[in-house]
Parts: sequence; C-alpha cells; structure tokens
Amino acid sequence: MGLGALPVGALVLFQPKRRAMRDAELAKRAVGFAAVDRHVTSGTCIGLGSGTTAFWAIERVGERVRDGDEIVAVATSSVTEQLCRERGIPVIPFGEREIAVAIDGADEVAADWSLTKGGGGALFREKAVALAARTFVVIVTPEKLVERLGAFHTPVEVVPFSLRWVERKIKSRFGVEPRLRGGAEPFVTDNGNVLLDCSFGSIADPAALDLQLREIHGVVATGLFTGLTGAVLVSRSDGSVDSLAGPGERA
Ligand code: 5RP
Repeated sequence: MGLGALPVGALVLFQPKRRAMRDAELAKRAVGFAAVDRHVTSGTCIGLGSGTTAFWAIERVGERVRDGDEIVAVATSSVTEQLCRERGIPVIPFGEREIAVAIDGADEVAADWSLTKGGGGALFREKAVALAARTFVVIVTPEKLVERLGAFHTPVEVVPFSLRWVERKIKSRFGVEPRLRGGAEPFVTDNGNVLLDCSFGSIADPAALDLQLREIHGVVATGLFTGLTGAVLVSRSDGSVDSLAGPGERA
C-alpha cells in the first residue's frame, strides 16, 4: 500500500517516528562534523571508519577536500573506500603513511573507554587503523555510552576453515552460544572471513576476554577495543557535541 492510500490520521501517527529518525541523523551528523573540524588538519593522512556515524565524518572530509585541504585517507572498509572515492577523497593503502588521526563510530563505549565495535562487520580493519593512528577519536550518540561492555554482542572474526572448531571452543570455554552472522547466508567480511556474534553479558575485563578469544586458533580479531581510544565525542539532543573527560581525568 502506498502512503497515498493511508488515512490522514495514520500519516499524523507516522510523524513522531519520522522526526525521531531525522533527529538521530542530525545527531550523527553533528558529531561526525565536529570530529573532523576539531581533529583533522590539512596535510595529514587520516583513518576513516565505517558505519552510519562515521559516514558524516567522511562527508565532512569530502567538503574539506573540495575546499582545498590536502587530506589523504586510509579506509576501514570497502564501503568507506567507495564513499571516499565518490567524494574525491584520495585513498591510500594501509601502512603507507603515518595516520595522524582515525575517526570511527562504536557500538558501545564503556566508562573506561573500552569499546565494542564491528556491528557493521569491519572490526579487523577498524582495529588495524585505530592501532596505527596517533589519536583515535570515537564518535557516538549518547545511547552508546554504557558503564560496562556486553549488552551489545561481541563480534568475533573467524577464518571460515576453522568456523566449527572455533564455535565449539567458544561454547566450551565461555558457556555461550555463538551466532553466525547472516545464518544460512553468512556475512563475509572484507577479509573473506565470517563473524560469530557472542553474547557474554556484562564484561568485567574486556582486554582479558579479547586475549582469551584470540588465543583460539582461527580467531582473527574481536570487536573488543581496549587501550586505543584517545578521545570520545558525544552529540547531545540540543545539537551540541561534548568531548568526554577521559577515565583518568574524572573528578
Ligand atoms: C562497524 C562499526 C561501527 O563503527 C559501529 O557498528 C557503529 O556503527 P553506527 O555508527 O552505524 O551505529 O564498528 O564495523
């Protein structure tokens, strides 16, 4: 049924939902733009993340390049690479130049600034770029801020050959039932691997869990990012963007 066939009352009912969606997009835009304006200088190489929030940082970098800034980027996914090319942002291979700043979204940001990432499946390249960057700037909307990680599933990237083995190991070591992303038609990452989404519940020590998972042969990377975050920018409902005080700086 097209919208034209709906009664007027139904259209009115749709509007708050539409407004909420528009506000959410504006919040992502505000934080993406702020990250670029506050952290990116002309003449540098930057890392650009993946996802609907990072999209707006890419958009802003595109504007800056069109205005004459000399910025080159390392893309954290094939989608981001394509978005960069469409906006005239020069893309270079990872490892070719030092990355001054990387800007990326997150699925969860804990009080200690550990992150869950990989909701979009780009965790391996996102972690590579975050590790290599001098400053890693995380951009989120407020609902991503949590006390501890774990409400969002932890993505685990696995070499397809080892999938069943890794699944069994995770089950037996952690007592959780990993879920293959995409099910019968598995999601394939930019690296040709598959993803197991694991619900560990509240994670007391993300660094230790990341290490334990990576010790399983066949695990390539996890979406737990620890000790990497250099700044967290959060958009507020009034359109402003706060830079959070670091875990060690709070009163
Ligand atoms: C992709 C990611 C994204 O940064 C994360 O999923 C957040 O995405 P969004 O900004 O769309 O909520 O880690 O692998």
